Amino acid sequence: MKFTTLSFTSVLAISVAAKHDGSFAVLRFNNEGGKFSTEGRMDPVVSPGTASGHSHGIMGGSNFGLTVNGPDLLDSKCTNALIVNDKSNYWVPNLWFQSPKNSTFKKVPLDYMSVYYKFDTTNDDIKAFPSGLKIVSGDAMKRTPPATGGLQLDPSQGEIQAVQWTCPTANTNEDRYPPGSDGTKAGMVDPNNKGSGAGFPVVNCDGVYSPLRQDIHLPSCYNPAAGLDDYANNMAFPTANGNALDCPEGWTHVPHLFYEIYYSTTDFENEWDEDGAHQPFVLSNGDRTGFSSHADFISGWDVDTLQTMIDGCNAGDAGMDKCPKIIGGINTSDKCQIESAVPDPSEDWITALPGNNPLAGWGV
Ligand SMILES: *[C@@H]1O[C@H](CO)[C@@H](O)[C@H](O)[C@H]1NC(C)=O
Ligand SMILES: *[C@@H]1O[C@H](CO)[C@@H](O)[C@H](O)[C@H]1NC(C)=O
Repeated sequence: MKFTTLSFTSVLAISVAAKHDGSFAVLRFNNEGGKFSTEGRMDPVVSPGTASGHSHGIMGGSNFGLTVNGPDLLDSKCTNALIVNDKSNYWVPNLWFQSPKNSTFKKVPLDYMSVYYKFDTTNDDIKAFPSGLKIVSGDAMKRTPPATGGLQLDPSQGEIQAVQWTCPTANTNEDRYPPGSDGTKAGMVDPNNKGSGAGFPVVNCDGVYSPLRQDIHLPSCYNPAAGLDDYANNMAFPTANGNALDCPEGWTHVPHLFYEIYYSTTDFENEWDEDGAHQPFVLSNGDRTGFSSHADFISGWDVDTLQTMIDGCNAGDAGMDKCPKIIGGINTSDKCQIESAVPDPSEDWITALPGNNPLAGWGV
């Protein structure tokens, strides 16, 4: 789209050689066992300066707080990201287990989180995030099923479906969702991947080293006219253009972030009985479906460090910390715990979710 004014031959040349060819690198974190960097009712993107409606788990730079001015993040004294020059924050709603015996809630500990930095195949130049860019993906208010259990990331193909749950099981053939489920009483399987779907699965995720995981894609086209803070309007997913994913003219193509968050759901495997229809997990906003999960991001990257990786790193699953040139270096030990401005209750089992969020969704 960007190249509509070029001559036909130039367009042809560009479509043969995309500017980026789908490389990626996974960012890992030095998380304290079972914990994000900080947790609590904080969301400086959606609810700046005040307690947010529900609790989140947050990774990254230590200047996180109820209010975050993006450029200030770069002055964070530490980060638990392995890349020292990434002081960004990454967050998602917390996950809770509700006891089928007495209905009280216990927080499900974090196992670990990874963030894929995808440099998708595109005719655009992929640029580092501007400092302070705020991105939100997903809809915290959603309780109704999406159109599909599969992913739908192309805005020209209808409603975006960027949020999934993945449930690795020892028996890889096991149905994770009730067969034929339409999402009104339980989650829906991804037609292209039996292990994933929209909404929480109804079985224990007992794959080796792989408990329940949430997967969230973030949009990678930034509209500078909307600005860094206008999270509701400043981002869009790119549109397929042949093999390439391109942004609208005048927008900036930034890395495509994909969050994977593994939870220690195996801690609870003996606390509930599978019946093929129900499951015991609930998001911190009271959502029993899992449809409303969402991801937030504020960039605290040193721009040159990230641009060097975009242009020269295809470390893939080996990790961004294996990129050939890392300005500022790596830190494989800094857990960088951050004090919470609005901490969750310290008791193990609580009678109401933080913020007193009522339950909603299946069976309520
Ligand atoms: C509620 O049930 C859980 C187990 O599911 C148990 O550990 C906890 O002590 C119970 N709490 C009360 C108040 O009975
Ligand atoms: C890495 O983390 C350790 C432990 O917190 C800290 O002492 C050290 O200064 C850090 N190094 C860098 C390069 O940030």
